[in-house]
Amino acid sequence: MKLNIACIPGDGIGPEIVTEAKKVLNQTAKVYGHEISYTDLLMGGASIDVHGVPLTEETVEKAKEADAVLMGSIGGDTTTSPWYKLAPQLRPEAGLLAIRKALNLFANLRPAVLYDELADACPLKKDISGAGFDMMIMRELTGGLYFGERYTTQENGVRKAVDTLTYNENEIRRIALKGFDIAMKRRKKVTSVDKANVLDSSRLWRKVVEEVAKDYPEVTLEHMLVDNCAMQLVKNPAQFDVILTENMFGDILSDEASMVTGSIGMLASASLNDSKFGLYEPSHGSAPDIAGKGIANPIATVLSAAMMLRFSFDLDKEADAVENAVKNVLKKGYRTVDIMSEGCRQVGCKEMGDLLADEIN
Ligand code: IPM
Ligand code: MG
Repeated sequence: MKLNIACIPGDGIGPEIVTEAKKVLNQTAKVYGHEISYTDLLMGGASIDVHGVPLTEETVEKAKEADAVLMGSIGGDTTTSPWYKLAPQLRPEAGLLAIRKALNLFANLRPAVLYDELADACPLKKDISGAGFDMMIMRELTGGLYFGERYTTQENGVRKAVDTLTYNENEIRRIALKGFDIAMKRRKKVTSVDKANVLDSSRLWRKVVEEVAKDYPEVTLEHMLVDNCAMQLVKNPAQFDVILTENMFGDILSDEASMVTGSIGMLASASLNDSKFGLYEPSHGSAPDIAGKGIANPIATVLSAAMMLRFSFDLDKEADAVENAVKNVLKKGYRTVDIMSEGCRQVGCKEMGDLLADEIN
């Protein structure tokens, strides 16, 4: 198979971790007889430095021509980087929001898994973490508060800022369908998270999710209020299979879930449209404080590449091989500094990439 991949290395540790993910992808392609072509694209701070804007039409067009996009991370230190002296719509993050919208990437999948080998990193008490957990957060990514009308004004000398939270039923239905489809391939449970005791958008969300659920009789649906969900994630994370939620709630809950795993450097993500196209990126940020030091953990990016093989190319065997490589390297005791524990062997970003690639044969 020919895989036409656009790469956005981005800022901070982005270029380092994308290099290692490519290494693993190349080895996978070699072993399984595929051919990969990469097109490197600029976005975020790297694009600002060259073009003055975080996302160009050219990057969007080239991304659209590819089968999938592999991204590192974007953004810099918000207190010291000159990028954050620019107007909000010219900062690195604006590029990320704009490409999500331009590519219609409405479904954001963020798995949060407790790896046996890293169970000690989980900050929860043993009697809770002992049950393990493996959940998929399905976050709506192109609607809600992030993309509603916003402005800042003055009324009678009083400053006022407005952000609007809007969803129509089509936007809710398409992410719900994806959520139920994914649940069918997992443990067949969907927890739809909303704030239906207060928000109209959440009441519509709940109704539409219930309509969609009728076509999935095998899937158990439950509704949970977002504040309760925030609690349940630390009280009993094992109860969750698929968490289906709107953009802002998903942003917050996915950070919480990643913290509960104790190893954010391990968490992948996929952002999909309604075809096979997707943008794949680690859930963590660009970590400008450790950029260029060679100590970043490339595993989240490697696992994002595995999601790409699975969701954009239907290469399940190859995706399994990459995921097993991660498990094996962890089992052998190799760790980057962020997940280091006693008795293990600490390795850098490049060495971790080499070890992962070596496992695929
Ligand atoms: C994320 C990030 C982004 C978001 C930021 C960088 C705009 O936090 O992908 O979760 O809020 O969506
Ligand atoms: Mg976030």
